[in-house]
Amino acid sequence: MSQPLITLDFLDTLPTPSPDATTHEATPSGEVRVSPATETGRKRKLYIESYGCQMNFSDSEIVSSILFDEGFDTTEQLEGADLVLLNTCSIREKAEQTVRMRLSQINGHKKRNPGLLVGVLGCMAERLKSKFLEEEKLVDLVVGPDAYRDLPQLIQQIDGGQKAVNVLLSREETYADITPVRLNSNGITAFISIMRGCDNMCSFCVVPFTRGRERSRDAHSIIREAQDLVVAGYKEVTLLGQNVDSYKWASEDGTEQVNFAQLLERVALINPALRVRFSTSHPKDITDEVLHTMARHENICKYIHLPAQSGNSRVLALMNRTYDRPWYEERVRAIRRILGNDCAISTDMISGFCSETEEEHQDTLSLMEFVHYDMAYMFFYSERPGTLAARKLEDDVPLPVKKRRLQEVIDLQQQHSRLRNQQAVGKVHRVLVENFSKRSQEHLSGRNSQNQVVIFPKKHYQKGDYVDVLVHSGSASTLLGEAV
Ligand code: SAH
Ligand code: SF4
Ligand code: F3S
Repeated sequence: MSQPLITLDFLDTLPTPSPDATTHEATPSGEVRVSPATETGRKRKLYIESYGCQMNFSDSEIVSSILFDEGFDTTEQLEGADLVLLNTCSIREKAEQTVRMRLSQINGHKKRNPGLLVGVLGCMAERLKSKFLEEEKLVDLVVGPDAYRDLPQLIQQIDGGQKAVNVLLSREETYADITPVRLNSNGITAFISIMRGCDNMCSFCVVPFTRGRERSRDAHSIIREAQDLVVAGYKEVTLLGQNVDSYKWASEDGTEQVNFAQLLERVALINPALRVRFSTSHPKDITDEVLHTMARHENICKYIHLPAQSGNSRVLALMNRTYDRPWYEERVRAIRRILGNDCAISTDMISGFCSETEEEHQDTLSLMEFVHYDMAYMFFYSERPGTLAARKLEDDVPLPVKKRRLQEVIDLQQQHSRLRNQQAVGKVHRVLVENFSKRSQEHLSGRNSQNQVVIFPKKHYQKGDYVDVLVHSGSASTLLGEAV
């Protein structure tokens, strides 16, 4: 169950930035993941493909767990599956197109295998609801992100020849008591979902509509999950949420209250050999308390994903991000003050948002010069139906202009990524080994605290080891070195 995940990107090479997006971590990507086979001799076979962000990848593990108890093993082969589920993403138009294309392929397959059941989960299911069944005639099942507990009952319904839909959003559901089947895992690193939904209403973003209201998961269940992972041999956990810094949980009697900094500290204290990461931080919410907590614990990785979206205050206001450029710059200074230059910072940027001028685009580039991001996910603006921006603002930057601005952002980021990686050369980095290098079985691949990928000759080291590696060279995406 802890086989490596089949993924279309490479762990040890950050994907080449494409004019739509780059890939990695808690941010949506062009990546698709097929959950690997469980093979425990259960009667029916589930094939599940996940799109979008880490939240979806993590939800697919919950879905697999629910269906495992219903007699489903997962399979890596579409052929031979009884049930195919696509866990979908709506973040940009292209993400939805990808899923539509995949559905038409699967429908071809279904024509040859009429018994096959096809379901759509996740954000597109939530956005389109029963419309999906009208638009995609061969889909049997549509289930939104808060309704996965209902899957067994819905599957009975489709087994009986009916179509089934449940897209109810919840104010409470966190799946706290469900132990995920760790499909998306190398046995070393795992994701723990600490909250769901989002209340921020950034004007460009569909997530508040597809994921519902923000809610924080019971702190004790989070700690328990992390402890169980340690016992199972895991060495790193990433705490996941759209906006982890607004995590807030209180016990029912109100005597215990936990904010994000406190949760982070509790997880860090479980075991000094367990690395802790988190994503995503909203610039409006990241506090000095969080930064001081990071500074206090060696095992909290020195890496912050702090999406700016734009470097211009007028555009940020239109985006409803609720911070302006001076605020963002102050947060970056706080990171440098409390954690020093060694803390990596990454961002998401959107080029060509409604009414963005050439000067305002230049402000995004100048913010990048100010921060020198280690890494970035970069997108051009894609209008999403129903969002504030779609209703109130005009999507008036022509596509070629959006793409050209995005390319300028990508080019600058490439320079900065290379620069940051060059700064790592000549230093010793503590690397957690996650896998063999994709290019050679003689090399291992892992990441340092700053989330930089480091490749080095294997020697006697193994997956799960912490290895001190002297880095001798670096490209924009990878560092190469030798164990010392
Ligand atoms: N909660 C995270 C972001 C989640 S969505 C945060 O607030 O930072 C991930 C990224 O997708 C966003 O940061 C944004 O850069 C991008 N994105 C979201 N909606 C988009 C849209 N309509 N067009 C282009 N990019 C978008
Ligand atoms: Fe979307 Fe904004 Fe929420 Fe992030 S914080 S998920 S960008 S609405
Ligand atoms: Fe994630 Fe895409 Fe939904 S980014 S939250 S799967 S819209």
